[in-house]
Amino acid sequence: MKTIQSDNYQIHIGNDADFWECFNAFVSAEKFSRKLIVVDENTSVHCLPLLLAKTEAASWPVIAIKSGEQNKNLATCEQIWAQMMDLQLDRKSLVINLGGGVIGDMSGFCAATFKRGIYFLQMPTTLLSQVDASIGGKLGVDFKTIKNSIGVFKNPEAVFTCPDFLQTLPFAELRSGYSEIIKHALIGAEVLWADLQQLDINTLNSKEVPLPQTPDWDDLIYRSLMVKQTVVAQDPFETGLRKILNFGHTIGHALESHALESPEPLLHGEAIAIGMICESWIAFAQKQLLEQDFKAFYSLLLKQIPSKKISEEAIPELIALMQQDKKNENGLINFTFVPKAGKANFNQNAPIPLIAESLHRYNTLLS
Ligand SMILES: NC(=O)c1ccc[n+]([C@@H]2O[C@H](COP(=O)([O-])OP(=O)(O)OC[C@H]3O[C@@H](n4cnc5c(N)ncnc54)[C@H](O)[C@@H]3O)[C@@H](O)[C@H]2O)c1
Ligand SMILES: [Zn+2]
Repeated sequence: MKTIQSDNYQIHIGNDADFWECFNAFVSAEKFSRKLIVVDENTSVHCLPLLLAKTEAASWPVIAIKSGEQNKNLATCEQIWAQMMDLQLDRKSLVINLGGGVIGDMSGFCAATFKRGIYFLQMPTTLLSQVDASIGGKLGVDFKTIKNSIGVFKNPEAVFTCPDFLQTLPFAELRSGYSEIIKHALIGAEVLWADLQQLDINTLNSKEVPLPQTPDWDDLIYRSLMVKQTVVAQDPFETGLRKILNFGHTIGHALESHALESPEPLLHGEAIAIGMICESWIAFAQKQLLEQDFKAFYSLLLKQIPSKKISEEAIPELIALMQQDKKNENGLINFTFVPKAGKANFNQNAPIPLIAESLHRYNTLLS
């Protein structure tokens, strides 16, 4: 088991006896009155059995909600709050969020607001939530089609990350999470970036069962989380430095939102990978990134994450979506640029025509 000390909670990563002993000791603390597990329809089938096998959880009540981003809204929160009420949870109850980023963000938000806040812990089950969403204290739901527009900052009591949950994760979801590992390497871990050159996530596509031992998942998750944790510790409320975590996300979010209306939606990590390539091209075009580094960035990203042509007609709509990004200041679209692997500069801008050209350039890289 590996442990990361955050300011006021610990993040444990592992699948060994120590990990589960640590979990059992943690939840048995006297400060917690009752325990409740929140799952979605998939984690209830694929992840709950492991939790039940390793812990005393069989006697704890379970709330199961529908899976998917389309259910990450206030209507589902109402269902969760209503069941918390029916179960008569008190202020000392502990909610265990067993699921991906949707469960972590939404059920964490419900716990943080129920009776002005009850205890919760994150037990992330997707690679994306294991390397990213489960830490950093951002909780919330989507509202009126705007992602994460209602929410709070609150840290969990602890995070327990077990890579064994990844065994049942669909390959496309695994690869989507891998994109955030690449992002963390690029913005803050040069050595990890070098190590990623030796890995090929697509060799796992055959969906071997059990999931192969390589890569060393504990190690990969730990190193990725260390990048985020180090950044969040310095700027928990995103007044400055934390914006570097949004590398690839200005263009990526626009692509993701746009794709929601298409028959072929993009997974978050797929959109972010394209975003990282386009934003790096802008940095290169503005002489903030060397050509050889730009080539190294896009070569790895194109090899690891599926590339999907951007419709040229969609470019004005994509720019309009970027103009609504909540990170923008003074009417300028806000970016983070990576001038070399392991370094990042936030609050960067670019003229609109150059942003539009980056999308076009991305398409030319595919042909
Ligand atoms: N709070 C943050 O800092 C932060 C950061 C990044 C992303 N997010 C949020 O995270 C969400 C995306 O998270 P996600 O990619 O984990 O999505 P998700 O929670 O929707 O999970 C993806 C799919 O995998 C299923 N699943 C989960 N674990 C499984 C397992 N072990 N085996 C089989 N199926 C499993 C889920 O039911 C779902 O269908 C978004 O809402 C995003 O806004 C939050
Ligand atoms: Zn992301």
